[in-house]
Formats: sequence, C-alpha cells, structure tokens
Amino acid sequence: MSDDGQPGPPAGGRVDFRAALRSCFRAALDGLAADGVVPLTADEMPALLDQVRQTADAKFGDYSGTMAMALAKRAGRKPRDLAADIAARLAAAPTYADFFLPPGDPVGPGFINVRVRDEALAAALSRAVSDPRLGVRGTERPETIVVDFSSPNVAKPMHVGHIRSTVIGDALARILRFRGHRVITDNHLGDWGTQFGMILWGWKHCRDDEAFAADPTAELGRLYRLVRKVADAKPEELAADPAAASLAARYPEAGREVLAETAKLHEGDPENRALWERFMPVCRAEIDRLYARLHVTFDHWLGESFFQPMLAATVDDLVARGLARESRGAIGVFLRGDDAPPLLIRKADGAFLYATTDLATIRWRLDTWKPSRILYVVDHRQSEHFEQVFDAARRWGLSGIADVDLVHVGFGTVLGEDGKPFKTRAGDTVGLEALLDEGVERARQVIELGAEGRAALAAEDRRHVAETVGIGAIKYADLSQNRTTDYVFSFDKMLQLTGNTAAYMQYAVARVEGIFAKGGIDRDALRVAATEVRIAEPAERALALDLLRFGEVLEDVEADYRPNLLTTWLYDLAGRYSSFYDTHPVLKAEGPERASRLALCDLTGRVLRTGLELLGIGTVERM
Ligand code: ARG
Repeated sequence: MSDDGQPGPPAGGRVDFRAALRSCFRAALDGLAADGVVPLTADEMPALLDQVRQTADAKFGDYSGTMAMALAKRAGRKPRDLAADIAARLAAAPTYADFFLPPGDPVGPGFINVRVRDEALAAALSRAVSDPRLGVRGTERPETIVVDFSSPNVAKPMHVGHIRSTVIGDALARILRFRGHRVITDNHLGDWGTQFGMILWGWKHCRDDEAFAADPTAELGRLYRLVRKVADAKPEELAADPAAASLAARYPEAGREVLAETAKLHEGDPENRALWERFMPVCRAEIDRLYARLHVTFDHWLGESFFQPMLAATVDDLVARGLARESRGAIGVFLRGDDAPPLLIRKADGAFLYATTDLATIRWRLDTWKPSRILYVVDHRQSEHFEQVFDAARRWGLSGIADVDLVHVGFGTVLGEDGKPFKTRAGDTVGLEALLDEGVERARQVIELGAEGRAALAAEDRRHVAETVGIGAIKYADLSQNRTTDYVFSFDKMLQLTGNTAAYMQYAVARVEGIFAKGGIDRDALRVAATEVRIAEPAERALALDLLRFGEVLEDVEADYRPNLLTTWLYDLAGRYSSFYDTHPVLKAEGPERASRLALCDLTGRVLRTGLELLGIGTVERM
C-alpha cells in the first residue's frame, strides 16, 4: 500500500510487507463477499485482516493468512476449499505479484502461506539503508494522543511501582511519536492530596529546621514517614518506632488533625498555601533528579492542584444534569443503579475526591487538546477507578467525548525474589533512587569483570557505561515483561550478559558497530541509494526480512500498548544477526557482496539502536 492507504507502490519508498499483503487479502475477501461466497461486513474486515501474520515457522513461508478456517462454516465449504478460493483471488489482487510469490496450495486445515519475493526484499532493503526512518512507515491515520504517565504523589518518596508507569509510559510515548502521532505527555502529579496534610502537620509539630536547611527533601521525607505512622496509629508500626510512638501519645487526635490540615489547604488557608508553595519546589527537585537519570521528560506537568479551581463546577454540572446526587451527605454519580454504591465526587465534609479531579481533567483535556485517545499508564489496582471515571465521563456527555478512546493501560506489581511485593529487608518500600544506584553499581561490577574493553575504557567512560547499562537493565527488565502480569525484580537476572536483557542488547549493538571501527569503514558512504543489498544466503534473507518488520512490530505495540513485543523482536533480531555474522564473512568478503553485507550490518546496528531508543534505553560504543 502507498502512504495514502491505497494499494500500489509506496509513495515514500517504504514497504511494509504485511500491510501490502493485508491489502491484497482485503481485495480477495471483498471479491469473496461480492460474489456471494461469504457475506462480510466492513466492520469484520479489520479482525479478519489481523489474521494475516508472520508465520511461526519460516519453512512454511514468511506470512500466513488463517481466516479461511473461521469463515468456512458461514460459506458452507470445507476450510481448505475456501482457502484455495481466497488464495486464487489473492494471487490476482493488484500489486500482489510485485511483492509476493504465488501462494501455492493451502496447507493444513487451510493456511494460506505467502513468501516475499527476494527481489522485493532486496529492493526494500536497499531503500531502507539510505532512509533515516530505516524503512519504517508511520501510521496512516495520525492522531492526537495524550499519555498520562508516571504521575507520582509528590512529597511521598517515589517507589518501585512508579518505575513501571514511568518506563512503560515513556516507551509508549516514544513509539507512538515515531509512528507519526501527535503525542502529548502529561505528568498528572498527585500534588494536592492528604500527604500534604501530613507534611503540614509535621512541619507545625515536629520539624527540624537545621535538617530542612541542610537537606529539605530528606527532612520532608522524614516528616512524611513519621507523621503517616502517627496518623495511622497502628500499634505494630508505633512499637517499632519510638519517635512516632511518643508523638502519637502526645497527639492522640493526630489523624483527624492531619485531615484538617489538608482541608485547610484546599480551602485556601494562607499559611498552608504558603507552605505548600514552599514545599512544592523541593518535591519537584527530588523527582526531577530521577527523571533526569531515567532520561524521561514530559510536555506538561498539570498536577491535581491545577484542576482544583474546576472541581466545584464539575460537581455542580454533574448534579445539574441529573447524573450526580446526594447520598448520605456526600455527592455521588450513580453508575450502577440506585442500590449500588455511587462514584463519590464530593465527601460529606465538602472535600473533593480523586475521581472528581480525573473528571475535571478529562473535560479540560478534551477542550484544550481535542485528543482522540487518552492513555492512563497506571497500576492495574486502579482499574475500577478508571472504569467508573470513564463511564461517568461518557454519561456526562462532554463535547468531544464521543470521539475519544479512554484507555487504562494497566500493569502488574513488581515482586521481590520472595514473590511478595518488592520491599526492603526492613519492610519499607524501596526508594527509587537507591534502586537506580544499586543497578548502576552492579552494572559497574559486571563490566569490570568482563575482559573486553576493560583496559581501554577511561574512568569517565566506565562511569557512563555503568550508568547506561545499569539504568537500561532496570528499564528493559520491566519493558520486556507482559505488562499486565506481576514480575519478579532481580538484579542478577537483569544484568546477565546473555539472554533477553538490556546488557545483551547493548552489547549486540556495540559488537555490530565494532566492525566499522575495525574495518575503518565510512558508514555514511554505505547509506546511499546506490548501495545495493543482495540476498543470496538463507541467513541473509532471514535477517533482511526481520529488519523490514520493524514497522509492523511497532504497529502491534501500538495496538495493545505492549512494549514487550518490541523487546522480543529486538532480541530475535540480534539472534538472527549473530547467525548471519558468525557464518558469513563480512569484512573479508569482496566487491558488491562486501558492500551488501556491510550495509546489512549497518542497518542492523541502527535498527537495534533505534529500537532501544524507542524504549528509552541508551547504548554505548564499547562495553
Ligand atoms: N497519583 C496517582 C498515584 O500515584 C496516579 C495518577 C494517575 N493519573 C490519573 N489521571 N489518575 O496513584
């Protein structure tokens, strides 16, 4: 298909074989429907074309269409007969023969297997080599997509759970952007919640001015941890912390008073407001440091506080439209009938809730950005919250709500090696900064153990390599998991130099790039239209085909918001490259074969590097 979605040679010279094949299948299925063989509606088409995928085993071909099995019953035909009918129409589709060999007889219960022509492969690859986008076509329908991610509650120390939202959200934003969407990232900071009540109360009752002057973040962190224990007044926590216990004894009403401090802040009390304004930059400095180390940035930082002036109107509007009403002094939106508990948007004491802010935020985003999708990259434990908020927002009938997809991109819990939620030995949540430090320190040890490059790396480079490898390991370990499942956090596993790890991938990049230094090759000279890539050997073909699947993998990542599809593919690609490189001479090859193989290596290096970059993972020249 061309860039404008029509079948035919692609306008930008980029070929997506799967997309091209799907459009041929579309023509075949349309013909089937037009001839009355199977009635088909346009709505069913995407799901049917989704059954055109890479084959599990290359010996059957490169791609396979499996829809005949599902359609056979409706057609009143045997699956294989229907498959043969589809295959004949496929072969006759316009442009089919430009890219693919004739499909041949269906296999098994009705698989239509297709092989890409070697000439088409070589031509596409030659173009990819001189393409800054590495042959990757973007989306055909660019959208405005808001990605709400990271969004920690500030003034509480960030913990390991926040890393998932930060890392997954950042990767998705990068990938969607690379696909050509207009992406707006927003860090919806929890900067207005009860944690500030704790800090305000702590500030007024037990602050240490000297400590605050020396290290404001640490002092606020101490106040938060201390006051939380005092306010919660759990006997076992107090027993383990004498300072908290003595405060709790002196202030038995602390829990109530903390809530009162929050309420005063929300009501605009000048003293609490001034303190909040003093604390916020301290909190920001703390998290900014982490984002800098993670190389994560945001377009916007519209935290909960930004939406506070809109909350009263949000509640009033929902009440005026008859969607929300009073329930035992509070106000709620009744989503599941009168008997089920409503989604509360105002408490009896007048305080607004998390859901109220999220509803106001949706309205603001729709009005301001007019997105067609809003992604919330948040722990799966909040799925009920988002279901209810999305439901309420739809009933609210906001302008633009009919055209927006609200998606909770949930993720599982990070577990320790004991299989329980990841905690320190003392039972506290693990601070993010300490976690990154440990990752980097362990990466340094791994690097120093490795024989290669050790002597050659200057101390400064070693620090940089350790930081890149350590942080990369933590990110990759997270991104390579199926995001919806829990995963076990293990430094030992994530820093292994073999297997599906960042270190292995970074090493693969360094190895590919090493060839060019070794051979004294001018890479830019390879990246010209005149470089002709030849596909002669099976290992070359397998590598070539895989390199050209980059765009298709990114499309799949977008479809399910699953960065692990990208890590899996990159890992396989690195393996294909090794099989090729270990058995075929490159620097020692001659003439056009040498140029062709060097171009394959160059493209592989760039694809691996770009793939890691889209995951937010850096690479190094030597390690
Ligand atoms: N601050 C929340 C938390 O740490 C996450 C916010 C997610 N975004 C949102 N729009 N609710 O649990």
